Amino acid sequence: MMEPDIQQKFFEIFARDKARYIKKWLVSWDYQVKRKKRKISYGSEQPEDFDRYNGPNDLIKWMNWFPKDYANYLPESLINPLIEESLKHDREILLKLGIKHDFPNYSKRIGLNNAHDAAFPNLYPVPERNRIRNVIDFGAGYGRQANLWSQSNENIYVALDAIPKSYAIQHLYFSSLGRPFYDYASNPDGFRISNEKKGIYHLPTWRYDLLPDNFFDMVMAVQVLRELNSTLVRKMIQEFHRVLKPGGMFYIRDHGDVWKPAGKMNIDKYLIASGFTLEFKPHIILDSDLHGIPRIWRKNDPRVIDSQKPDLKGKLRTLAEDLDAISGGRLRKTFGKGNKREPK
Ligand SMILES: C[S@@+](CC[C@H](N)C(=O)[O-])C[C@H]1O[C@@H](n2cnc3c(N)ncnc32)[C@H](O)[C@@H]1O
Repeated sequence: MMEPDIQQKFFEIFARDKARYIKKWLVSWDYQVKRKKRKISYGSEQPEDFDRYNGPNDLIKWMNWFPKDYANYLPESLINPLIEESLKHDREILLKLGIKHDFPNYSKRIGLNNAHDAAFPNLYPVPERNRIRNVIDFGAGYGRQANLWSQSNENIYVALDAIPKSYAIQHLYFSSLGRPFYDYASNPDGFRISNEKKGIYHLPTWRYDLLPDNFFDMVMAVQVLRELNSTLVRKMIQEFHRVLKPGGMFYIRDHGDVWKPAGKMNIDKYLIASGFTLEFKPHIILDSDLHGIPRIWRKNDPRVIDSQKPDLKGKLRTLAEDLDAISGGRLRKTFGKGNKREPK
């Protein structure tokens, strides 16, 4: 249900949770703090003051914050249907909200970004246990990932954000998508994420404790991590490790080390140390092939790791084979026909 005054509700949960859950670094958008100090303005057609929500037109301003045509190297047969589906939903949403907007260059801007973030996590076959159903969108912008990630009746989509303007616009967008929608701001005491209730969930960052353990198939962080302080990034990586299923995907798209306005942290190193393995990173030219580099990390699954580690038996077998080779095959002739379990 749409809250008539979502900004008020946001400030209420902020005040209610302040002493118990909120730390300054948890609710900070360090890149924007720095931008403000540098007195850089985005202009009147784009979002500006992130501490305030000024009404539905803020959604359009955020949509304008895709200011250029982006590159694409994925096949059009894969991308175009996703762009069309995304456009259909966005048209319906704005119609519902009574906002007139003609989506200039949609297919090369918002539509393409939405299509990329739907296509990359599904680009290649994976075992059935890694199929994506339950997802988290960390730092959800105006909520655009819900467009393609919340439509299936099998999916749970959870958006996490901490910034007043972003949270309010996301609420507006999510409540217009026609899916079941549960917002912590509307019902903080009754908020519970459950497979019995598919749909869209909306949660402030500081209540990450309400994300269930081993529950999610994917966490998305698109153009976010490099804009936040390293204390927050470290904390959220630990939490994402807790809430992802073994083998679950951490999908990141940003400009890596080329653009990190909020800190010098080596995020890749921290991911590896926290129990993630890099599965996919295309060898592409940043921005001329694609906007940002998409990466797929996986939470280490002990079954995968163990199955690829030689056990004591395997090590002894190799030793016996080496000794057999030194003896010119005499060892095998004397003690048996060799190991039948030798991998082909
Ligand atoms: C550049 S935008 C990217 C938005 C979105 N992922 C996209 O690709 O369209 C960065 C997002 O991070 C969010 N953000 C900033 N500080 C945050 C925090 N402390 N916790 C969670 N999200 C935060 C902002 O509100 C915004 O939604």
